[in-house]
Amino acid sequence: TDPALIRNFCIIAHIDHGKSTLADRMLQITGVVDDRSMRAQYLDRMDIERERGITIKSQAVRLPWDGHVLNMIDTPGHVDFTYEVSRSLQACEGAILLVDAAQGIEAQTLANLYLAMNADLHIIPVLNKIDLPAAQPEKFAEELAGLIGCDPSDVLKVSGKTGVGVRELLDHVVQTVPAPIGVADSAARALIFDSVYDTYRGVVTYVRVVDGHLGKRERILMMSTNATHETLEIGVISPEPKVADLGLGVGEVGYLITGVKDVRQSRVGDTVTSAAKPAKDMLAGYEHPKPMVFSGLYPIDGDEYPELREALDKLQLNDAALVYEPETSAALGFGFRVGFLGLLHMEIVRERLEREFGLSLISTAPNVVYRVVMEDGKELTVTNPSEFPTGGKIAQVFEPVTKSTILAPAEFIGAIMEICQGRRGQLLGMDYLSEDRVEIRYTLPLGEIIFDFFDQLKSRTRGYASLDYEPAGEQEADLVKVDILLQGEAVDAFSAIVHKDKAYGYGVDMAKKLRELIPRQQFEVPIQAAIGARVIARENIRAIRKDVLAKCYGGDISRKRKLLEKQKEGKKRMKMVGRVEVPQEAFVAALSTD
Ligand code: GTP
Repeated sequence: TDPALIRNFCIIAHIDHGKSTLADRMLQITGVVDDRSMRAQYLDRMDIERERGITIKSQAVRLPWDGHVLNMIDTPGHVDFTYEVSRSLQACEGAILLVDAAQGIEAQTLANLYLAMNADLHIIPVLNKIDLPAAQPEKFAEELAGLIGCDPSDVLKVSGKTGVGVRELLDHVVQTVPAPIGVADSAARALIFDSVYDTYRGVVTYVRVVDGHLGKRERILMMSTNATHETLEIGVISPEPKVADLGLGVGEVGYLITGVKDVRQSRVGDTVTSAAKPAKDMLAGYEHPKPMVFSGLYPIDGDEYPELREALDKLQLNDAALVYEPETSAALGFGFRVGFLGLLHMEIVRERLEREFGLSLISTAPNVVYRVVMEDGKELTVTNPSEFPTGGKIAQVFEPVTKSTILAPAEFIGAIMEICQGRRGQLLGMDYLSEDRVEIRYTLPLGEIIFDFFDQLKSRTRGYASLDYEPAGEQEADLVKVDILLQGEAVDAFSAIVHKDKAYGYGVDMAKKLRELIPRQQFEVPIQAAIGARVIARENIRAIRKDVLAKCYGGDISRKRKLLEKQKEGKKRMKMVGRVEVPQEAFVAALSTD
């Protein structure tokens, strides 16, 4: 295709503002899906299929329109995947900024807009859902125009549901989004903006060709790893995969299959070139996705450890950002320390392990990555609280911080500030988007956000606040490790790194919780919370002197045996901490955040 006739664009929006529904209408109006096969959230449905490993998800759809080729590139919507979003954006020249006409601008609207502006994309502001009785198109057109600096009359108004305005929007894409520019006769360079593992075909890599040409049966080189592969198949998605016998040229978007089985060999952000005639420079800086949040994952049933390892290996084929290494806990046995991009990523991985692999897991409280500088100048990277050095030789501890943006109705400013201040937030600024909506910006430690921050924010603002955050370096902080001891013995799974001011609260809560959760034993069990050798909280579990057999006086031997059997059953689900028997449920309950 002549690059002059190509338009590459994406749709960016806050969650639920109607991206998938608008994409559906575009598929239908451009005729790539006929009315009979149309179903709601056509592309999302594939998502589920992909999760089950049946079909590949269509990440980029080619739409013919008015003599042009439009490539609509899907972007993952959540903050954890910002890194991938920014790669997808780099495969486009334009972005439709979609805003719900009944809701107005939300936190992810802003976050995505800034990413799109950084990528130098042409922005098309669009209000969606104008069919809703509650829509206020005039009011929000003004808000949106104010945000991106255009005239309110330039804001397009559509309904993804009824299709109103969608043809005009497609025309507008053709007219205003710049055609891709590249050098056709130079060495091939293509950006990988997504890669997906498919059970039958191996890794399917989505690329946008910037310069040159990629063909079938060609040896290609992945520039960040220097690995070479052969393209077995190359094609476009419209909306099912279609082989492109001529390969892909400048500005084109499509997929390639090389038969590799592991997405780490085909990483998002990497540059593909020809092995025979490699390009000199890679496309815009490739970075490894960096895990931000760590947690220990342990099978509830220790026998399932090999299954857990296998499940993680399999998931990693499809998720280059997932990292893990074996770890052992005195209390929980064999498991893994797993690194995630953020909380959502963590939830997804855990859910997939349980749902798709049928595992029951205990996860330890999530923690961020700390940098500890010792007095002798040595530095440690701590991803597990039990590795946190104790004793007096720590010089400084650094924790990751975020720039967080909260959008909410103005009436909640007080409540929001209270929450943020309670979590060591520093106010960066505040702007009114309209009379009754504010944007509040804070520097907040990531470690404070990964507990129940979002839940609290939602409940204190009756669900009206939206949150977005991005990494913003690190800061020195007064952090300590709190250990929880049972009968003088530290239980590694309960250790946490917390701010000095919160150490006491954590210790008291945990000791109380455990007193409720751990059954009485034959002897007294003290529960202590301690920072190093200093005890900061203490509870006691009183001893019982219950002889289970004493009740069955008389000769009923079978009843006696039954009781002993039952006790043995119960013991299996107990973990021994020193001499103390702790039921499995106590770990699960003590480690859950609610
Ligand atoms: P995520 O994929 O979760 O980020 O959401 P999304 O942005 O793709 O939104 P989706 O298309 O799933 O729409 C969210 C909800 O809004 C659904 O219940 C849709 O039926 C509804 N919706 C989407 N577009 C319109 C519209 O134009 N009018 C009306 N009335 N409802 C719409």
